[in-house]
Amino acid sequence: TPALRVTEWSDVVDGWPRLGPASEKYTRGVVGLATGSATYPGAAVLSVGGALAGPTGLVRYAGSAAAEVLHHYPSVIASGRVADAGRVQAWVCGSGLGTGEEATAELRTVLAAPVPAVLDADALTMLVDGSMADRLRGRDAPIVVTPHDREYARLCGEEPGADRVGATLRLAAWMNAVVLLKGDRTVVGTPSGQAYVNPTGTPALATGGTGDVLAGLLGSLLAAGLPAERAAALAAYAHGLAGREAARHGPVTAPDVAAALRPVLAGLA
Ligand code: APR
Ligand code: MG
Repeated sequence: TPALRVTEWSDVVDGWPRLGPASEKYTRGVVGLATGSATYPGAAVLSVGGALAGPTGLVRYAGSAAAEVLHHYPSVIASGRVADAGRVQAWVCGSGLGTGEEATAELRTVLAAPVPAVLDADALTMLVDGSMADRLRGRDAPIVVTPHDREYARLCGEEPGADRVGATLRLAAWMNAVVLLKGDRTVVGTPSGQAYVNPTGTPALATGGTGDVLAGLLGSLLAAGLPAERAAALAAYAHGLAGREAARHGPVTAPDVAAALRPVLAGLA
């Protein structure tokens, strides 16, 4: 395979996990979200919204915004802490979580779990401030980090610059993690040097909270068993399409993007 690939719709069609007669909610995968806080309950709702649009059969929410999450999505199973959430096949951690002592403890619990994890937003800040980035190198289960440019700069100590593919691959190699560098053309890069460029992005996504939706969707694909780089590339592609779909109806908000994932993905389940 070439080192640089532009994701196509056929990749989504080929790679998206499908339902079959033997499908069962646990075998479809269970995704856990350690997102949101009393200060940012919306981030919990948005990340859960992204996760529910994905292929998993069960969504567990572990955080301080359970009331808001359940109000919007009664099918979610809520617990206060990551350690009390029960079994999940992948974690999403960080969107709107905060960076205090409790959030740091939750991130540590997520990192100690032997399952794939998406680290977004405040989880990335805590990695830097807590000097935890080194620790990812010894972790067996895959990590996907989802920085925007400022989060990238904090992780790397420098801006991504013009060569966004190179910048993504440098961080991926250093962290031994799959990196999803957000932007107009979101880039996914692996520690081994494979890169995927997403062609579906739209400036309609440049509104607060759409990143939280992406993190949740990505977690669902990981929990369904997709390899980390494929999950990241497909999530970015579907997320971009959802942004375009939402924009057909007027100015876009993040909840619109979560809702638009459904028609975009219709027929894939
Ligand atoms: N073209 C295409 N896609 C874009 C563009 C663009 N011009 N601008 C942004 N996007 C996409 C990104 O690729 C990403 O998928 O929109 C999403 C934005 O995600 P984030 O940058 O993580 O933003 P988000 O977390 O949703 O919102 C920011 O978090 O930083 C805090 O409090 C701050 O409210 C703010 C929120
Ligand atoms: Mg964000």
